[in-house]
This record gives sequence, C-alpha cells and structure tokens, in this order.
Amino acid sequence: MDEKKFSNSVHGSLTCISCHFDLEGKEFPHDEDLQPVNCGNCHASEYNEHEKSLHGKALLKGDQLAPHCYDCHGKHDILSAKDPNSPTTPLKIPFLCGKCHAEIEIVHRKVIKGELENYLVEPYPQIVIRAIRIFGWIALTIGFSIIIWIVYAMIFAYR
Ligand code: HEC
Ligand code: HEC
Ligand code: HEC
Ligand code: HEC
Repeated sequence: MDEKKFSNSVHGSLTCISCHFDLEGKEFPHDEDLQPVNCGNCHASEYNEHEKSLHGKALLKGDQLAPHCYDCHGKHDILSAKDPNSPTTPLKIPFLCGKCHAEIEIVHRKVIKGELENYLVEPYPQIVIRAIRIFGWIALTIGFSIIIWIVYAMIFAYR
C-alpha cells in the first residue's frame, strides 16, 4: 500500500487496526490473510443506505460486478466528495458510474431479461443492437402509418 496516499486520505489519522482488526500484533501484512474491511463499523448510515440500494442487494445475491464501498471510494486513498481529486466529486460521477454502466443499453436489455450477471462478459456487438433498434423504428413507423390510414379510410367511408 502507498503510505503517502494513505496519510493524505480522510483516514490518514487512523491506525491500520481500526480497519483491519486482524492486523493486530502482525508486522508484515499479507494480502491473503486479511479479512474484508467493514466500513459500516464507522459509517453506519451510509452502510445501511448501500445495503438497501440495488447495488447492495446485488452484492447480497453474490453478483460479482456489483460495487463494494471501495469500488467507488477507493481503499487507502479515500478522499471527501468535496475534494476535486476524489472519484466521488460531482464532476467525476459520470466516469465513476460509467466504469460499469457505460454500456447502458446492454445493462438495461439484460436487466429486463433477468440475465444481468454476465453483461460485461458477453455484451452483444453494438451493430446488432443498432440493427435491432433501427428495425424497431421502421416497424413502428409502418405500423403507425397503417393505423392512421385505416382511421382516415373509415372516416371517409362513413361520410
Ligand atoms: C479506512 C480503512 C482502512 C485503513 C485505516 C487501512 N486499510 Fe488496508 N484495506 C482497506 C480496504 C477497504 C482494503 C481492500 C479490501 C478489503 O475490504 O479488505 C484494504 C486492503 C489492504 C491490504 C490488502 C491489499 C490491497 O491493497 O487490497 C493490505 C496489505 C492492507 N490493506 C494494509 C493496510 C495497512 C498496513 C494499513 C495501515 C497503514 C491499512 N491497511 C489501513 C481499508 C483500510
Ligand atoms: C475506524 C472507523 C472508520 C472506518 C472503519 C472507515 N472510516 Fe471512513 N471515516 C472515518 C473518520 C473518523 C472520518 C473522518 C470524518 C470527518 O472528517 O468528518 C472518515 C471519513 C470518510 C469519508 C469522507 C467523509 C466526509 O464527509 O468528508 C469517506 C468518503 C469515508 N470515510 C469512507 C469510508 C469507506 C468507504 C470505508 C471502508 C473502506 C471507511 N470509510 C471506513 C472513520 C472510519
Ligand atoms: C456506486 C458508488 C458508491 C458506493 C458503492 C458507495 N458510495 Fe459512498 N458515496 C458515493 C458518492 C458518489 C458520494 C458523494 C455524493 C453523495 O454524497 O451522495 C458518496 C458519499 C459517501 C459519504 C459521504 C462523505 C463524502 O465524501 O462527502 C460516505 C461517508 C460514504 N459515501 C461512505 C460509503 C460507504 C461506507 C459505502 C459502503 C457501505 C459506500 N459509501 C458505497 C458513491 C458510492
Ligand atoms: C463496480 C461496478 C458498478 C459501479 C461503479 C456502479 N454500478 Fe450501478 N450497478 C452495478 C450492477 C452490477 C448493477 C445491477 C444490480 C442488479 O442486479 O440489479 C447496478 C445497478 C444499478 C442501478 C439499478 C438499475 C439497473 O439498471 O439495474 C442503478 C440506478 C445504478 N446501478 C446506478 C449507479 C450509479 C448512479 C453509479 C455511480 C454513482 C453506479 N451505479 C456505479 C454495478 C456498478
């Protein structure tokens, strides 16, 4: 981990153990034996909000792509949303969400079909999506014209 980033982060004054209870008494931390950090120990209201959100529910279901706190905020380099360098600052939110939601049409199509879990793994090629959309519009336009034509024909016939 980067000590400098950590000391400049909002958590710079915390000890390692305040987040990693299991580092107690250890000198050289190894990735594999660390328990997941529970941000909710200190940020209960954000934790509860996140748990109730669609993201939190997706995590509970075991969705590999759903965001943990650190996917949006970072780990040892967390900054306040008021800091323009933070990934959560308002101007950067489109990039933050776009990391996972850039292919928004694909996400929505798969959500409707209930097969979201794999949406980043096997997206439909853009050309297929465009073809389907254009075809849809043509079909809609033709259908609509026919209806209008029938209504006109009926008005004309009954005059
Ligand atoms: C604000 C809470 C927080 C503090 C304080 C903190 N960490 Fe972490 N640390 C995390 C999070 C979050 C992760 C990522 C995965 C997880 O949830 O365990 C992590 C992961 C790690 C990892 C695994 C490798 C990695 O980067 O994913 C190591 C090693 C580690 N921390 C060491 C430390 C050391 C050493 C300190 C003290 C200088 C420290 N941490 C302080 C939150 C913290
Ligand atoms: C041991 C308690 C503790 C843990 C665990 C912890 N935090 Fe914090 N966090 C704090 C404290 C203390 C502050 C500073 C509060 C302040 O400055 O108002 C803070 C500040 C923050 C801020 C900035 C708040 C603001 O208003 O500027 C964010 C964002 C944040 N934490 C996210 C996280 C995330 C994400 C995790 C889990 C990876 C986490 N925290 C884990 C204690 C903790
Ligand atoms: C999908 C991305 C995302 C996830 C996941 C997420 N957050 Fe946030 N969080 C944000 C954004 C963006 C803001 C700033 C805008 C706002 O306040 O709504 C924020 C604001 C905060 C703040 C207010 C402090 C600040 O920087 O102004 C805290 C504390 C916080 N989050 C903690 C957490 C914790 C704890 C979790 C996990 C339980 C979590 N967040 C999960 C995106 C996320
Ligand atoms: C790490 C990846 C990741 C990030 C970052 C992320 N999301 Fe998501 N988001 C997901 C996943 C996965 C789901 C699907 C949850 C489900 O199973 O319904 C989701 C679902 C949603 C939904 C529910 C509607 C839908 O289409 O399923 C909304 C709204 C949403 N995210 C908004 C946001 C916003 C706003 C941000 C940025 C602050 C953000 N997301 C950041 C992964 C992410």
